[in-house]
Amino acid sequence: MSESYETSGAMDATLSPELAAELTAEFTRRHESEPLGIWSAPGRVNLIGEHTDYNSGFVLPFAIDRRAYVVLGWRDDGLARVTSTFSDEVVEVSLAELTPEVLEGWSAYPLGVAWALLARGTLADGREPAVPPVGTSAAGLEPRGFALHIHSDVPIGAGLSSSAAIECATAVALNEYWVLGNSQKALARIGQIAENQVVGAPTGIMDQSASMLGRRDSAVFLDCRSMETSSVALGLAAHDDEILVIDTKVSHDHATGGYAARRASCELAARVMKVDSLRELTPADLPRMREALDDETFRRARHIITENDRVEETVRLLGAEGPQAIGGLLDASHVSMRDDFEISVPQLDLAVEVAQRLGAIGARMTGGGFGGSALALVSRARRPLLEAGILEAFALHQFEKPDLFVVQPSDGATMKGEPR
Ligand code: GLA
Repeated sequence: MSESYETSGAMDATLSPELAAELTAEFTRRHESEPLGIWSAPGRVNLIGEHTDYNSGFVLPFAIDRRAYVVLGWRDDGLARVTSTFSDEVVEVSLAELTPEVLEGWSAYPLGVAWALLARGTLADGREPAVPPVGTSAAGLEPRGFALHIHSDVPIGAGLSSSAAIECATAVALNEYWVLGNSQKALARIGQIAENQVVGAPTGIMDQSASMLGRRDSAVFLDCRSMETSSVALGLAAHDDEILVIDTKVSHDHATGGYAARRASCELAARVMKVDSLRELTPADLPRMREALDDETFRRARHIITENDRVEETVRLLGAEGPQAIGGLLDASHVSMRDDFEISVPQLDLAVEVAQRLGAIGARMTGGGFGGSALALVSRARRPLLEAGILEAFALHQFEKPDLFVVQPSDGATMKGEPR
């Protein structure tokens, strides 16, 4: 089932001539020069497998039809000059002086990637990127400066990996510009390094992998221990099913608080059980884990162990029976995150409950938790009913009005830029 993605490099079919013209004009206005090309990478929705990535487990995300676009141009002065459509700010730094300490705000994402490509840090889990990038300044090569303009239609703060989309779009752009020749998997690692060491969020490899490796109508099945990947057909259109995203508008931040605490609990559980990661344990180990761990740590670890099982079962059922068969696993994943991992919030629980009550095939919160989005797998015919019910329930609870939209499993980052 496993296959290589290294040779894919289709031109960006998502870039309409109108958007290309608009982005080119904006680049020219803000950088007073002509761009070389436009690269893009998508956000993601995780179908199932939450918080399993940094536990060397399984994940099953898919890239979505919302993307970040990077317009890149040449500079000969060793400067990185960055602009974006979400800010008037122009950020300029000398590549020779680029360090994580000088980076902050939105520009930390693209410039963090530039730094990671040049300096190559280590990952939060201490592992090195699979393929070291070449052409670092340490090797005596002076990196060429660049001008970069970012535009994105991935909603920010919705748990759909808007940051990974920017990181991956920047990574493919600079990889081509600097002729570094990194593979897609290595570029996913570069994005993760930027996120871990520059942005300061101790996140895993899932988001960048989905953004780099996504395939139309498919999910990316990733074994975060071996880093083996395969494409799993979702068959949504063939079954007249859709994935509805419910963005609760409850904002979250993985650089602080809960996310890091969950990661620490998992690491503690692995230490006490004397294994490298929770991936080494199976449901058969749960009775002896209950003896060895305090109640909270036990429940955190139980989520990871049962979630790994659910991901594998989801892949099996998708292949054998199609999306109709996976509802129970999505529902069980939500319960596990709500009760054992405790990363849900009332708005996510409400969205999931209402979706289930109104006939969704399955529903769960998706992403890191503490806010963000839930997903409902639902038949096309039933979707309007779900939407109306969720809006009504949120109004009744006096929660902020959620954003509801359907996402299409889409292709990942473009390895080759669209020339201008
Ligand atoms: C965030 C992180 C991912 C992953 C998920 C939870 O999206 O960026 O690495 O840990 O949370 O599954």
